[in-house]
Amino acid sequence: MEIVEKVDVIERLTNFRYATKKFDSSKKLTEEQVNNILAALNLSASSFGLQPYKFILVNDPEVREKLKNAAFGQTQVTDASHLIVFAHKTSMDHGFIEKYIDNIATTRDVPREALGGFEDVMKGTANNLTEDAAAYWNARQTYIALGNLLTYCAVEGIDACPMEGFDGNAFDEILGLKEKGLHAVVIAPVGYRSEEDGMQHAKKVRRPISEIVEVI
Ligand SMILES: Cc1cc2nc3c(=O)[nH]c(=O)nc-3n(C[C@H](O)[C@H](O)[C@H](O)COP(=O)(O)O)c2cc1C
Repeated sequence: MEIVEKVDVIERLTNFRYATKKFDSSKKLTEEQVNNILAALNLSASSFGLQPYKFILVNDPEVREKLKNAAFGQTQVTDASHLIVFAHKTSMDHGFIEKYIDNIATTRDVPREALGGFEDVMKGTANNLTEDAAAYWNARQTYIALGNLLTYCAVEGIDACPMEGFDGNAFDEILGLKEKGLHAVVIAPVGYRSEEDGMQHAKKVRRPISEIVEVI
């Protein structure tokens, strides 16, 4: 029998995870750790399973310096071991949906024709969206992946900071995203906290559960 160590996720979220303000730039994640973070992103749920996004791992220090300037100088962008930019597709085109159907057919070894109904539902949904609504729909899926990353990292003892404090258009420009039909919406520097980061000792500020949950 496989022995699985039980992880108390609530304990990790209470006592370990916090939005890291200052990273220790000398401490690096291993390739395996980074690959596992990327796997956690890829395993995220998304509407219909479409995954309308791209995660850009920015390793080039010069590019990260430029991105920091476009993020109001927030040092996490350059100091964290790794930087992941979450970019969502700016449209939902039929070609993208067809590729997804191809993937299901191959992965699950089912005839493509058997998936025609599902394909029509997705195309119908996409047809009913304005360009802005499609982009917004895609962006929302991206945040599910962000949540997954934060929880995964907390469980694994990796620090992260979710960040929206940057100029998305400037990020698009620096990373060449617009021409790829993508828009940068949120970022996650990941790595290890600096001992000097006072925020790691700050008490969690949260509304009472009774205020954010309604039982009907
Ligand atoms: C979508 C999003 C955007 C955020 N943007 C920034 C940011 O630009 N810079 C930063 O230092 N923290 C940012 N934060 C961190 C929040 O301030 C932090 O999560 C919140 O204060 C709760 O604290 P905790 O995560 O440490 O529990 C962001 C968090 C989220 C979820």
